[in-house]
Amino acid sequence: MSLLIKNGEIVTADSCCRADIYVENETITRIGRDLEAPPDSEVIDAAGKYVFPGFIDPHVHIYLPFMATFAKDTHETASIAALVGGTTTYIEMCCPSRMDDALEGYHLWKSKAEGNSACDYTFHMAVSKYIGETESQLREIVRDGISSFKIFLAYKNFFGVEDCEMYQALALARKLGVIVTAHCENAELVAQLQQELLRAGKTGPEWHEPSRPESVEAEGTHHFVTFLENTGASGYVVHLSCEAALKAALAAKERGVRIHIESVIPHLLLDKAYAARAGLEGMKHVMSPPLRDKRNQHVLWNALNAGLIDTVATDHCPFDTEQKLMGRDAFTQIPNGIPGIEERVNLLFTYGVKRGKLDLHRFVDAASTRAAKIFGLFPRKGTIAVGSDADLVIYDSSYNGIISSASQYVNNDYNGFEGMPIEGRPAVVTVRGKVQARDGEFVGERGGGRFLKREPSHF
Ligand code: URP
Ligand code: ZN
Ligand code: ZN
Repeated sequence: MSLLIKNGEIVTADSCCRADIYVENETITRIGRDLEAPPDSEVIDAAGKYVFPGFIDPHVHIYLPFMATFAKDTHETASIAALVGGTTTYIEMCCPSRMDDALEGYHLWKSKAEGNSACDYTFHMAVSKYIGETESQLREIVRDGISSFKIFLAYKNFFGVEDCEMYQALALARKLGVIVTAHCENAELVAQLQQELLRAGKTGPEWHEPSRPESVEAEGTHHFVTFLENTGASGYVVHLSCEAALKAALAAKERGVRIHIESVIPHLLLDKAYAARAGLEGMKHVMSPPLRDKRNQHVLWNALNAGLIDTVATDHCPFDTEQKLMGRDAFTQIPNGIPGIEERVNLLFTYGVKRGKLDLHRFVDAASTRAAKIFGLFPRKGTIAVGSDADLVIYDSSYNGIISSASQYVNNDYNGFEGMPIEGRPAVVTVRGKVQARDGEFVGERGGGRFLKREPSHF
């Protein structure tokens, strides 16, 4: 099977050129002007459109038992939504809790994706406790092709690790060349503040943010980077939401700590006023770290454009309205999470590139290339080059639309970005040379996504 994409404006993290792309057997084999193809090739005219490398979402939750319920998507629904929005690879958080066996959890998470995802995929392996068998289990998981761990400083007694466990996880990661991603909020402070607010009768979703204020995230970030500094491990702060936490991470970077930073699309575009809306509307916008005071967004966008924030992910985590209402009497019972896997690329393009806040190459870098480099997928993924997988997004920057839950593929009954205009969307999305989505519709093969084995690279 071969595919020829003609006349597109090929944009990568560091270059731009008008050329044709020829794909054979899942791989890009030629890039150049006026390429010829055999008569049976599929030919797509990309004139007037950008051609981007397939986008990578490095932080999603699909199968997730959490807060007494389960996130709503399956790999079938989430991957289709991802593809329609231009994401061709995702990295799911494999999150067994402290009560679960890590290796069993890993096999369970893997089995949920196998044969069901239409995207290519891999996992960050959560280390939720560190006991006798943890080291041998993690070594086995790394041998199976996982080269990143995840730790939670938050979610006390569920996902959250003690300091001694974090130290051991980081020390092992350092030995194995594995990078450790971390949710950075001080769990004890969150627990204390939650109880104090509830005791004072402050039960609505607007109290979620005050229960985990910016200082709590800054402390968590500082705590994590201090552990990185003293173990020599390489780290990645997930969903960094505010200036105070950014300062803690950047100060560590200046000291030579090996640290990367991710922000997520909700924190770039939504602020805490959304979670302060009355009742269910507020609950829909509860996630952790919480949506912040708007002043932080300007800081995040600037740091993103400057490349100080490495990646933009989603932290996709869909809970429907019935699940959100579990927290009607206490904000601490609202399942945390905002979906975004379908919208991330279009929102970042519209509110970043089109509004002049994000350079076009940095957009590609932040939404694709940098994640591929950090997480051991480059140059197979994250770029357009001879030898790379033919994951391509032909992008129509003249499209105008409105985000609406009525037309989404994500398995949820609302959309946290409802009503927001978008200016651009994928016209064609390919995974390894196969067309999977066209103009907002999934047209591909269900379950054809592949597990991506990754080698440790953070020595
Ligand atoms: O609110 C969030 N972020 N839900 C998903 C779990 C996590 O912390 O990433
Ligand atoms: Zn998190
Ligand atoms: Zn998450």
